[in-house]
Amino acid sequence: MRTNAANGQAEARRASGDLQDLIKAYQISQAIHVAAVLGVADQMAAGLRASDEIAAAVGAHPRTLYRLLRALAALGVFREHEHRRFSLTAMGECLRSDAERSVRPSAIYLGQTYRWQAWGHLLHSVKTGENAFRALHGVDTWTYRKRHPEQDAIFNAAMTANSRRVDRAIVVACDFSGCARIADIGGGQGSLLAAILAAYPEACGVLLDLPHVVATAAPVLEAAGVGNRCEVVGGSMLESVPEGCAAYVMKFILHDWDDADCIRILRNCRRAMRSDARLLVIERLVGPPNEDLTVKLSDLNMLVGPGGQERTREEFAALFEAGGLRLADVLSTRADMSVIVGEPA
Ligand SMILES: C[S@@+](CC[C@H](N)C(=O)[O-])C[C@H]1O[C@@H](n2cnc3c(N)ncnc32)[C@H](O)[C@@H]1O
Repeated sequence: MRTNAANGQAEARRASGDLQDLIKAYQISQAIHVAAVLGVADQMAAGLRASDEIAAAVGAHPRTLYRLLRALAALGVFREHEHRRFSLTAMGECLRSDAERSVRPSAIYLGQTYRWQAWGHLLHSVKTGENAFRALHGVDTWTYRKRHPEQDAIFNAAMTANSRRVDRAIVVACDFSGCARIADIGGGQGSLLAAILAAYPEACGVLLDLPHVVATAAPVLEAAGVGNRCEVVGGSMLESVPEGCAAYVMKFILHDWDDADCIRILRNCRRAMRSDARLLVIERLVGPPNEDLTVKLSDLNMLVGPGGQERTREEFAALFEAGGLRLADVLSTRADMSVIVGEPA
């Protein structure tokens, strides 16, 4: 009996400690954000580096930067050595600007004040069902960033870097053979479309996104050597999308929008599609209860940020139907996202 009681108490102590760690998780996010903004991982690229030297190189207060680095070393992002010297761990390598799978742009973006202020408004969303961002800032995320070009640049860089981490997995999962013209709707700076066109040298592309976003796409398309095969269109998918393409790709678009706007976008796609064209919606599907933390947190992120939501396969099938399409298939990818294939109904 006494052992059972002691076990129960130990478990309760562990549970309350674990929960307390989760409650404080925003501190970790901000600490990584500051390290990313300062570019400290780049300073360790060549190996061990003293924290005072790093502070001098990045323009930080020496003693305070040491406190930041040792906390991140305790977390496993960096490794602390004797005499306040630090090196990169596998996670720290991913904070380098030049890492193949760099998450530095993402860390810079996610820690921006205007964004976490929206998360600070989660209670408002949960009580009212309203979009926290709009309630707080008075405009939607896209208008906000159009008005704050420096934030738009940070967001677009994060989307491009995140896309680079998964583009190859999507290209491998989807077959674009025989597609003469491929559109990426809301394609940002064109990272995914560039990867598709690089893999299909006979194909041409059309990149549609907001005018101020596609205005920054040229370097991404040129770097992939596909600039001469890609038409760049500034416009709104809520109004129309380019006609006559064999495949329409939409990655991380529908999760930004509520059902009514999704149906509007899907109808615009349907109107533009030939009868043999395909729509490839790339999203994370909401899975069963008690699993898939990433997608369920992303769902809350959509709630407080752009005002959309993550969806199940069945919810996508219903949206497709309302948009004049039929859900033909769901392909899995090596990345943690699915390709939901639509055909004209
Ligand atoms: C979450 S980002 C995804 C970007 C890209 N597809 C990717 O996966 O990296 C959403 C994109 O939708 C674009 N967008 C927002 N409103 C739009 C509109 N009305 N018409 C076209 N694009 C829009 C944004 O500019 C942004 O590039």
